[in-house]
Amino acid sequence: MNQSETVLRLSTNENCFGCSPLVLEAILNKYKDVYLYPEVNPIALKEKLAKKYSVNPDNIVVGAGSVRIIDGLIQTFVGREQEVLTFEKSFIAYGQLSIVNNRKCSFAPLTEFRCVPENLIPFINFNTSLIFIANPNNPTGTLITHSELENFMEKIPSDIIVAVDEAYAEYVTDASFPDTLALQKKYPNIIIIHSFSKIYGLAGMRIGYAIMEEKFAVRMNKGQIPFSLNYLAADAAIAAMDDENFIQKSSKENALQREYLFEELSKNYTTVATQANFVYLQFDSETEKHQVYGKLFAQGILICDMKIYGQEKSLRITVGDAEACKRIVACLT
Ligand SMILES: Cc1ncc(COP(=O)(O)O)c(C=O)c1O
Repeated sequence: MNQSETVLRLSTNENCFGCSPLVLEAILNKYKDVYLYPEVNPIALKEKLAKKYSVNPDNIVVGAGSVRIIDGLIQTFVGREQEVLTFEKSFIAYGQLSIVNNRKCSFAPLTEFRCVPENLIPFINFNTSLIFIANPNNPTGTLITHSELENFMEKIPSDIIVAVDEAYAEYVTDASFPDTLALQKKYPNIIIIHSFSKIYGLAGMRIGYAIMEEKFAVRMNKGQIPFSLNYLAADAAIAAMDDENFIQKSSKENALQREYLFEELSKNYTTVATQANFVYLQFDSETEKHQVYGKLFAQGILICDMKIYGQEKSLRITVGDAEACKRIVACLT
C-alpha cells in the first residue's frame, strides 16, 4: 500500500460525510454521564419517530442496531419448526442470525441481480413464518418497486411476516420505491426496518428501529435484552434526525457521486444500477476480481470483497465523496 495516500475505507457503506455536528454536540452534552444505565424505553426517540411516520410510539421498536432488530424478529416470530425466507445475495445477517437462533433459512435466487418478490413464492411452505426483503438490496443496490411489493403481499398468506429492511431508503431517488407505510396499513403483516447506521452516520452508536403493529411490538419488546441500548445512542439519534440539511446534503451528494461512479465503472466492468450508497461489480473470474481489488488496495482504497459473503466473483464499493470517487476512477480506468 502506498503510505503517502490517505486510507479510504469504502467497504462497509457508512456515510462518507460522517455524522451531523448536532450529533457530536448531543454526545458531548451527555458523555460524562455514561456511568448511568440507559433508559429501558427510549420514549423521546420513539415519539420523534412516531411523529415522523404518523404512527403511534407503541408501533416503534428500537434496538441496538437494526441487526439486533433482525435477531429479535427471528427470535420472536419464528418458532422451533418454522423457517425464515430471504434472497441469496442479500444482507448476510438474515442467514447468519437464523443459524445463530437455530432456525432454517431458505434463499430464493435473484433475477439479474434484482430481488424479484415473485421468486420467493416457490420457496414458501407451511413452515415459512418470516421473510426478509432488503430494499434497496445489499449488496446489489437494486430496488423492488411499490407495485412489485404490493402484488407479492396480495399473493402470500397474511400470517407470514414480511420484514422490509429499508436501511438505505434515504439514498433512494427512484420514484417507484414503495410507500411501505401505506402498504403496511393494507397488509399489517409488514414490518419496516430502519437503521441509523447509514445516512444518519451513527454506525458506531449501534441503533436501529422498526415500525410494526402494536401487538407485534409488544411481543418484540418482551424479548429485548435489558439495557442493550447504550447511554448515548437515543440522544444521538434524535440529534441526527434534527439535522435535515445534513441528510439532504448526504443524499444529494450520494446520488451525484453514485451516478458518476456507476457511469465510469460501467465503461469497463459489469455493474448493477444502484439506488443505495454502494456499487456492485460482477466479474467473469476470480482472477479479474482480485486484480481490481488489488489495484485499489495498493492505493489505500479498501472495498468489500464479496467472497466473505460467498460471492466469489464480485466486489462492492461504497460511494465516497467526490474526491474519493475520482480516486477510484483514476485507479481503475
Ligand atoms: C440491508 C441492511 N440492513 C441492516 C444493516 C445493519 O445495520 P445496523 O448497523 O443498523 O445494524 C445493514 C448493514 O450493512 C444492511 O446492509
